[in-house]
Amino acid sequence: MCGIVGVLGNHEAAPILVEALKRLEYRGYDSAGIATINNGTLDRRRAVGKLVNLSDLLVHDPLLGKSGIGHTRWATHGAPSVDNAHPHQAGPVAVVHNGIIENFRDLRSELAEAGIRFVTETDTETVALMTQRYMSEGLAPVDAARKTLSRLEGAFALAFLFEGEEDLIFAARKGSPLAIGHGEGEMFVGSDAIALAQMTDQITYLEEGDSAVLARNSLEIRNEAGEIANREKRQIHMDQAQIDKGGHKHFMAKEIAEQPTVIGEAVRHYLSNDGKSVALPGADIDFAGIDRLVMVACGTAYYACMTAKYWFEQLARIPVEIDIASEFRYREPPIPVRTLALFVSQSGETADTLAALRYCEGKADKIVSVVNVPESSIARESDLALPILAGTEIGVASTKAFTCQLTVLLMLALKAASDRGEMSEGEIAATLGELQTLPGILNAALEREGALRASARKLAEARDILFLGRGLMYPLALEGALKLKEISYIHAEAYASGELKHGPIALIDKHVPVVVMAPKDGLFDKTVSNMQEVMARNGKVLLITDSDGASEGAQGVWDVVTLPAVDDVLAPILYAIPAQLLAYHTAVAKGTDVDQPRNLAKSVTVE
Ligand code: F6R
Repeated sequence: MCGIVGVLGNHEAAPILVEALKRLEYRGYDSAGIATINNGTLDRRRAVGKLVNLSDLLVHDPLLGKSGIGHTRWATHGAPSVDNAHPHQAGPVAVVHNGIIENFRDLRSELAEAGIRFVTETDTETVALMTQRYMSEGLAPVDAARKTLSRLEGAFALAFLFEGEEDLIFAARKGSPLAIGHGEGEMFVGSDAIALAQMTDQITYLEEGDSAVLARNSLEIRNEAGEIANREKRQIHMDQAQIDKGGHKHFMAKEIAEQPTVIGEAVRHYLSNDGKSVALPGADIDFAGIDRLVMVACGTAYYACMTAKYWFEQLARIPVEIDIASEFRYREPPIPVRTLALFVSQSGETADTLAALRYCEGKADKIVSVVNVPESSIARESDLALPILAGTEIGVASTKAFTCQLTVLLMLALKAASDRGEMSEGEIAATLGELQTLPGILNAALEREGALRASARKLAEARDILFLGRGLMYPLALEGALKLKEISYIHAEAYASGELKHGPIALIDKHVPVVVMAPKDGLFDKTVSNMQEVMARNGKVLLITDSDGASEGAQGVWDVVTLPAVDDVLAPILYAIPAQLLAYHTAVAKGTDVDQPRNLAKSVTVE
């Protein structure tokens, strides 16, 4: 999604803005721009495509000035073009915007009727023009911007710069996050703290409905009602290592490799002191008082929910309903009493998931979230937010956040099994003991990278790829297909193995590789039968299994990758590694942009 940055500094702003925008690249974008004020005059540069295009433009046509705003745009209204790129300027006002102004057509008609001309197709231009209009009616810049804000509907974050005002940025948040950074006689604003990491670690997060007047030596925040609001200034421990590639070619590769470490940390965080039960630090959930779980998320986080459904139902015997947030929020599902609503989100800002959470407010007994960003909107609006402790995830394709989500959800399912008397203390302790050995097993799986790279080179030739899995491997098959299509742009679909003969088998021929995820568990023989059906139709099977599975089921397959054996219940976390590495190396073989795949955004803050 779009990224915002603003600087009131003591050095030239343009290089600082571009540097900060680089740290927002991970969010996904298709054009970028900056505006600065020099000797009171507002000027801007914008370019389509990667930031390097903007940097090149600035080399030939520099922008001077120590105050500025910048933006990476992920197109919603209007194609990626220089005209549609931010900042948008209307006379003395420049504005950058993240989100969607839902009533922009009405505002646009109103402005058009007043004879005002538009030069872009964007909703954001309306904000600049409206503010200009109020200024021309005599309002001071901040008052004009505030009056514009009062007219806007939708979800957005905005930062304004005004001609002649070298010590002023006005910023506002409604639905999309904004962070203010405090420097020594400098002030910054960014759509997240990562953007500001090189400038400061002193951060104030704006809350929903807040607006802020920034100057180099002062910050005034008002809440939605217009009252002065005190918002805490926090020191953020933004470990530089988390936002560097750490010697890897891509963030995705680094984040895949980090999984044994971060999963180990997540396990330790939720273990009781004696290591034999699950403890939720600082809070509790009594699953014995719950009759039903509703789990809602999007994309990869939804596949984490889908996996967790198997765990909660099988281990704790709790009925679980899962849904993707964009459907859940509009289908008005009844939420019976004694329902716990659980929302899973890496960013904690996904617009649909947040709306689904708000739908459950006042209906569900308790709202719990499993998030990676503790300061996020979803975390703050939950009764209880459980961190997954994955650390900053930069690669657009989620990897370590997925396996950390799985780890935390499995531990919650074990807690539920214990609360409901469905597993004995000994059984819980034994499973937790296995879970503590998982980082070592994941390291062994990462050592299979060479084999997976070789398989991926073959997959890179294909136009269509199918993924199959049964039971706990079905959500993993879906995640494997999603990962592959996201970053390699190869068409991939996943099916529950048993569904194949009900239609998708018509797709099988010698050109369609079929990736089968199948540890040697109780369902293995059934999956092997489905594999045989594929091979009987000249389908090419890539079997991912353990050594028992390979010796029993690999005859006649096109390729096989062998993973360490693991307790059945932990298999989804382990099998995520080959799913990720296959996608990664297929994308590398195809030469696509692994960390910033086309059209995708890291944090989807629009519907
Ligand atoms: C896929 C991916 C997306 C996200 C989805 C939800 O690799 O990253 O499918 O999982 O957009 O995002 P969060 O977890 O931030 O709510």
